[in-house]
Amino acid sequence: MCGIVGYVGPRGSQEVLLGGLGRLEYRGYDSAGVAIISDELETRKRAGKLQTLRDELVANPLDDGHTGIGHTRWATHGAPNDVNAHPHLGDNGKLALIHNGIIENFAEIKAELVADGVEFVSETDSEVAAHLVGREYRRTGNLTEAMKASVARFDGAFTLLIVHEESPGVVVGARRNSPLVIGLGKGENFLGSDVAAFVEYTSDALAIGQDQIVTITPDSVSVIDFDGNAVTPEPFTVTWDASAADKGGWSSFMAKEISEEPAAVADTLRGRVKDGVVEIPGFEPADFADVDRIIVVACGTAAYAGLVGKYAIEKWARIPVDVELSHEFRYREPVISDRTLIVSVSQSGETMDTLMAVKYAREIGARTLSICNTQGATIPRESDAVIYTHAGPEVAVASTKAFVAQITALYLLGIAIAQANGKGDARILSAAVHDLEAAPALLDTVLRHGEHIRTLAKWMADTQAVLILGRHVGFPIALEGALKLKELAYIHAEGFAAGELKHGPIALIEPGQVVFVIVPSPRDPNSLHSKVVNNIQEIRARGARVIAIAEQGDAAVLPYADEVIPIPLASSFIEPILAVVPLHMFAMELAAAKGLDVDQPRNLAKSVTVE
Ligand code: AGP
Repeated sequence: MCGIVGYVGPRGSQEVLLGGLGRLEYRGYDSAGVAIISDELETRKRAGKLQTLRDELVANPLDDGHTGIGHTRWATHGAPNDVNAHPHLGDNGKLALIHNGIIENFAEIKAELVADGVEFVSETDSEVAAHLVGREYRRTGNLTEAMKASVARFDGAFTLLIVHEESPGVVVGARRNSPLVIGLGKGENFLGSDVAAFVEYTSDALAIGQDQIVTITPDSVSVIDFDGNAVTPEPFTVTWDASAADKGGWSSFMAKEISEEPAAVADTLRGRVKDGVVEIPGFEPADFADVDRIIVVACGTAAYAGLVGKYAIEKWARIPVDVELSHEFRYREPVISDRTLIVSVSQSGETMDTLMAVKYAREIGARTLSICNTQGATIPRESDAVIYTHAGPEVAVASTKAFVAQITALYLLGIAIAQANGKGDARILSAAVHDLEAAPALLDTVLRHGEHIRTLAKWMADTQAVLILGRHVGFPIALEGALKLKELAYIHAEGFAAGELKHGPIALIEPGQVVFVIVPSPRDPNSLHSKVVNNIQEIRARGARVIAIAEQGDAAVLPYADEVIPIPLASSFIEPILAVVPLHMFAMELAAAKGLDVDQPRNLAKSVTVE
């Protein structure tokens, strides 16, 4: 959950490190720090966001150099303060280390070091690693060997970068379960938690695998496994440029990324439908034609995308689909077979809970498919197959465009399997493909309601609790809308199935209670529309303030709703992709109206790379 950057080359490290940390800050922003080798090793680190470190470097500059590491932190061990900020020092201040993850056996190692006379200044597991590596450097005189000896002692998940004053021009990194990628330059090389760390300088990258150590100099990159065996890392090319990871004049990354939701759907579809047939390069549906059960494993917003996909895949491919929270799946001893397909959904491809669920599923014999938005990420590399979403870099902690792209990818998967297993109704599949291809234009229409939603949010700035009702594929959207309000506006919000209202939640309705209702199309074949309109009447009768997200021209809703946010006419499986956008916009506007940080909400990080 931290941002990590390493650099060796002719440039001044400080600029490279701060620029990379700026693009990685969404991974954690409790504190930030850099370590740079000029004539000697110097560090600067401060609690707070990256700007605090930038201010510190102005007030208290260090001698720039050509070897350095940088870190932006999401606190696990120890409060987010200056002392606990990374880098941490070892070998009497000559070695600097930065760390992403958790070293679970740090206490026993710390006791051993204290017995050796080491004095600690922080509460972190990372400082323990710094002193251990420092001791191994003293013993071996070699940075790579010191790392190799040290990681052999560590349990848990970690990405580590180290530099040493006596080894200028060298950065060594190691990873287990936490992310690390290499950026290949000309006479310079980079390391980062993800490609955003170096995309400004190079689009040529190498993926580092599990339990591997990388040593970079300006002119060389070498990778070994934890046993010292040479490894050839997997190359890949970054398909987006640095400007895609910038705000581009928008007030926030979230506003920019909501505006990119139509493109996220279009780009995820692009090149994957030919004459009405879904063909996903690199994904062979025939390999999965015998699949008799799908379990989606994901967390948060990604899990809600999975829930939307469930309805569609079951209808089209006639395969049972369950959606499980990754962190629950792994510990309940699920009954699966080699005909079970585990589909992980993850924007970052680094969520530890989901990564562990995928590894567990493979251990017990299931096949695995990753739906991921980040090239070279760990989860796709641990899976049998991958369908990338092409939403582009998603920087705001609250996931928006990736969500609609995930639904799109799940729909493509369902149609592809249905076309392969012969269980799909050709007419229904053809209509589904057609509707998907029409979705981006319909999304553009929804985005035009921004001003209306902003006014609504300002009017509701004091709201302390919101309920959201949805039915069928609208139910996961209700859950997603509630999550957005929690993580952005810090208010109690609950999404639930509209049919559940009378089984308890209606007791929550009192005069003035704000309720969003996602209304199915009046053309809905299941005639759920009338049932949901009845729900609106029931809550209105008890004083609720109803904001309906309903199909343009749906007259049945008007008499009972205080506000209506119209969405274009669309098929029932496209509706969730449209209906979620007003909820994304509302949560963002409510947070802004409350003066909150829309892109970096408190306590959160973009990618939860610890369990
Ligand atoms: C979404 O707005 C949240 N930030 C969070 O629920 C997120 O979706 C979840 O942590 C999963 O992340 P992933 O898609 O990168 O695996």
